[in-house]
Amino acid sequence: MELSHAAAAVGGRRIWSDVNLTVAAGEFVAVLGPNGVGKSTLLKMVLGLIPVAAGTVSVLGARPGQRNKRIGYLPQRRAFDPATRVRGVDIVRLGLDGDRWGVPVPGWVPGSRGTQIARRVDEVIDLVGASSYARRPIGQCSGGEQQRLLIAQALARRPELLILDEPLDSLDVTNQASVSALIREVSQSQEVAVLLVAHDVNPILSYLDQVIYLAHGGAVMGPPAQVITADTLTMLYSTPIDVLTDRTGRLVVVGQPDSPPQHHVPGPTRRR
Ligand SMILES: Nc1ncnc2c1ncn2[C@@H]1O[C@H](COP(=O)(O)OP(=O)(O)O)[C@@H](O)[C@H]1O
Ligand SMILES: [Mg+2]
Repeated sequence: MELSHAAAAVGGRRIWSDVNLTVAAGEFVAVLGPNGVGKSTLLKMVLGLIPVAAGTVSVLGARPGQRNKRIGYLPQRRAFDPATRVRGVDIVRLGLDGDRWGVPVPGWVPGSRGTQIARRVDEVIDLVGASSYARRPIGQCSGGEQQRLLIAQALARRPELLILDEPLDSLDVTNQASVSALIREVSQSQEVAVLLVAHDVNPILSYLDQVIYLAHGGAVMGPPAQVITADTLTMLYSTPIDVLTDRTGRLVVVGQPDSPPQHHVPGPTRRR
C-alpha cells in the first residue's frame, strides 16, 4: 500500500493532508490520533469508499477499491446484542459467502464447494483459537471471543491486507493484550499486512513496524521509536504526554487523551 501526499475531505472539508505512507507485505501498522481526526476515513479511503482528495493512493498495485477481494475489513463497531442467536461459525462463514459468484479463494484443494467452505471456516476458527466457542450464539460470547471470531471472518478469504478499525476498543486490558498478540501472530504466519486503528497505542506498541498519527493540522508517520516520543505526542495532542521505558525496555505512553476508559470526547472539548 502506498500513499503519497494523500489528503482526505469529508463534506467538502479537508480533514487531513500530506500523508505519505508505504506499507510492505506482512507489516503491522497502527493508525492513531484523537477522536474525529479522520482515522476511519483513512481506512475507507484505502478501501475506495471515499475519494482521494489530493495526492495518490495505491493499494495492492491498483487504485483503491479495485483489490478489495484481497482485503479483509473489520469496521468500527460495538458488541453484539446478548440476544443475538447467530453462531460464531455462521459469522465466520459470511466472510466466504460474499464470494459465492466471485473468484475462488487461493490455495483451495478440489472438493465440493460446501466441503471447501466448511474446511476453511474450521481452519480459520482454529487459527484465531476460537474452536471451543464458535458454535455458541455469538451474543453469548465475551467481547474478546466476539472479536476473535470477527477477525476470523476477515481472514477467511486469505487476504493480503487486513484492515481493522478499533478492534481493541471495548475489550478489557487482558483481552487487548491477547487480541493484539493474535493479530501480530496471524500477520506473520499468514504474511498479511495489517492496518489497525487504535485509541491506545500501548497494547500493540511492541508489535508495530510503523505508526501514523493523524492530528488536526498534520500527520506524523514512521517507525515507533522515531515517532513515539514525548515531544512529538505532546505536539500532536496539544497536551502533556510522557513516553517511558519499562524494565524490559518497552516504550509506554502515559497521559494520551482518548485512551480507554475515556471513549468519547464531545465536540466542544475536542482537543486540537
Ligand atoms: N458521513 C459523514 N458525513 C459528514 N462528516 C463525516 C462523516 N463521517 C465522518 N465525518 C466527519 O469526518 C471527520 C473524521 O471522521 P472519522 O474518520 O470517523 O474520525 P475518527 O475515526 O478518527 O474518529 C469527523 O469530523 C467526522 O465528524
Ligand atoms: Mg473511527
